[in-house]
Amino acid sequence: MHEELQKEITTYEKRTPKSAEAHRRAEKRLPLGVASNYRTYEPYPIFVKEGHGSKIRDIDGNEYVDHNLCFGSLIAGHGHPAIVKAVEKALHMGTTFGMPHEMEWELAEEICGRFPIEMIRFGSSGTEVTMHACRLARAATKRDKILKFEGGYHGLHDTALVSVKPKPEEYGEESAPNSVPGGLGIPKGSIDNVVVASFNDLAGVEYRFEQHPNQIAAVILEPIMMNVGLCMPQAGFLQGLRDVTARHGALLIFDEVKTGAKLGWGGASEYFGVKPDVITLAKSIGGGVPLGAFGASRAVMNLISDHKVFHGGTFNTNRLSMSAGLAMFREVLTRENYATVAKLSKKLADGYRKTIAKVGLQAYVASAGVNGSLMLYPQEIRNYRDWLKVDQDLWRQY
Ligand SMILES: Cc1ncc(COP(=O)(O)O)c(C=O)c1O
Repeated sequence: MHEELQKEITTYEKRTPKSAEAHRRAEKRLPLGVASNYRTYEPYPIFVKEGHGSKIRDIDGNEYVDHNLCFGSLIAGHGHPAIVKAVEKALHMGTTFGMPHEMEWELAEEICGRFPIEMIRFGSSGTEVTMHACRLARAATKRDKILKFEGGYHGLHDTALVSVKPKPEEYGEESAPNSVPGGLGIPKGSIDNVVVASFNDLAGVEYRFEQHPNQIAAVILEPIMMNVGLCMPQAGFLQGLRDVTARHGALLIFDEVKTGAKLGWGGASEYFGVKPDVITLAKSIGGGVPLGAFGASRAVMNLISDHKVFHGGTFNTNRLSMSAGLAMFREVLTRENYATVAKLSKKLADGYRKTIAKVGLQAYVASAGVNGSLMLYPQEIRNYRDWLKVDQDLWRQY
């Protein structure tokens, strides 16, 4: 461990004794003392008391600028007035019915008006909607395999939790990576149905299709791979995927759980000018309330209308989520607001770049829309294996 990192940890512990105590209590009843494995880190996580706008306060009274914003779910910040007003109103009119209501088609029209999809269904999380997207693609093509990229994250279902953070000793050849489960409990049959390729390696993708002729139902990816900082698609990669999938009769799924709201008004398809077959959305579209969605052409979504693919969910379109979603699309995710946040994002990224130059750090800043990341590596990262070279201690210290 760097000496500097040790100093930071000592400061951290001095500043957060109540969080340490809360974590000790939580550990007795919750595995790792947290509600999601992503929230655990050494020596213990900060316990939050409240959040307002861009700031959070912990239970020791320390205030922070919240750069994490619930892993990309809060482009609107904490407690945006439009969301608070909409959700408060819904609270008094019945939060959930398990019956249709008018906000469903209203929000469906908003979303289909800005993304290249004709029909949509709603859920509550990113995991849920990428799971349905994969199933839909399997049904549409009558094939079982899904191709995903090493290091890509699409949630926790059996198809998604493969080769998310595989170790070098298990990940195999870069041109045809092994399918490595992200933990125990994933059936071998599921793992065998996930084909892995390296991000930005179009030849590798083509090779995988040749290895598994007429078996791959879809390629699923985040158009910008954000599970490894910010890994940008190189010129021609997304269009290349569009062409390869079309040629091989597979669907292209853009997992826009993060990029959908945070890249720009029309998400990745508008930003990069490439049209996928299926889009998944979650995180920021709900303004801090659980909301997910998946959509595609009428022909693909008709598999649900025709009762060939089943989709349901007790809390789908509950009024809290739908009110928040409508407020997000109508009042927060506007062209004007995107122009404003783009300026703010540029200012922040430029500031980081100046600091990097000033202190002579071996690093660069990747940024797109309001997404940004300090990449502690001297050259641009093109895939998961490049990202593994980042100095983890330095990252923790930062
Ligand atoms: C691209 C992407 N897809 C899917 C998911 C899963 O979303 P959730 O955590 O809401 O299940 C995430 C979560 O980080 C994500 O970043």
